[in-house]
Amino acid sequence: MQILADVMTCRMVPFSKGQLSEEEFRDTLARLKEVVPNPAWENGANGWPAIIDQMLQTHTYGAGCKQCHRSYIEQYRKSYHNRPIGPF
Ligand code: HEC
Repeated sequence: MQILADVMTCRMVPFSKGQLSEEEFRDTLARLKEVVPNPAWENGANGWPAIIDQMLQTHTYGAGCKQCHRSYIEQYRKSYHNRPIGPF
């Protein structure tokens, strides 16, 4: 089991540096949709899954990293940081 911060470090960051294939990265994104910690984050255009869908559909990713962080990083760190997720 991992925590989300590990997935960010081991999958998201390597992709942003060109060290992980787009295919593997997209698999990880698809998995990330399943680990929404809070039901209130499921819905709406700025919901966690909607942000990921947008990334998958447009094949552009940088804005999605920022949008998700802007919306959820603070609360995630506070409430869910050590929550086990995975396997990834
Ligand atoms: C669907 C939401 C979401 C997306 C998309 C997302 N992140 Fe994150 N990211 C988070 C959350 C939430 C945290 C905070 C995790 C924690 O500290 O517990 C985080 C943390 C991080 C961290 C800090 C890790 C650490 O050890 O503290 C980095 C670096 C990061 N993300 C990079 C990225 C990059 C690069 C992308 C895009 C390629 C990306 N993220 C896309 C939600 C997301």
